[in-house]
Amino acid sequence: MSQKLVVGNWKMFGSRAMAAELLQLLRDANLPSVVCPPYPYLLMAADLLAGSAVKVGAQDLEYRDEGAYTGEVSGPMLRDVGCSHVIVGHSERRALYGENDALVVEKVRAALRHGLTPVVCVGEHLEQRQRGLAKRVVLDQLNAVINGIGAESFARVLVAYEPVWAIGSGVAATLDDVAEMHVAMRAALRDANCDGVALLYGGSVKPDNAGQLLSLHAVDGVLVGGASLVADSFLRICSAAK
Ligand code: 13P
Repeated sequence: MSQKLVVGNWKMFGSRAMAAELLQLLRDANLPSVVCPPYPYLLMAADLLAGSAVKVGAQDLEYRDEGAYTGEVSGPMLRDVGCSHVIVGHSERRALYGENDALVVEKVRAALRHGLTPVVCVGEHLEQRQRGLAKRVVLDQLNAVINGIGAESFARVLVAYEPVWAIGSGVAATLDDVAEMHVAMRAALRDANCDGVALLYGGSVKPDNAGQLLSLHAVDGVLVGGASLVADSFLRICSAAK
């Protein structure tokens, strides 16, 4: 099996001491992956991980490059501190901060403009799945970005399917559900002439289910939340991705 991608999203967890310890352990293990700590720890992460197989990403970005936007962090700043990746459109941003597809498109555009690889998150809510709308919701979110930036640019994007009901719940989507959604997304990508794009799965990925999820042909990697905060868990998931 070829190397699959593991991205860790720390969300709003950690401290300077915790970050330093975890990042050192990741650097020592040197397994290919991407870690996305909170903004204040990005510079430390990039410095500590420089020259290793572990890359650094942010969890969000502002789409404008600079200006009077109190509290925001831009693409050029993320590049400046050593980020190579940035998560865009995470369901927590969409649900808690009102991010819609139009804003996600602007952010993806900004990331690409500054040489950052966007990890674009898509996923349905439980109630949408129960009403049989899961595929339509996910494909609409995906197509909004493809149509917004064009197929050529979309080739530089990573996509993460994160069913909202599986995030932080401790219960990942079943292998069948993941495979079915990924096959549907792959077909949509093929229709749009951007077949090479990697499709990750996220939502309660743990060391004990990562192997099975990563063994699915349709899954090119995983986006890990809670388990990325514990070195042993994250490293076991990275090992499963080999
Ligand atoms: P958990 O792995 O904690 O379910 O979080 C998934 C996620 O939202 C990653 O972006």
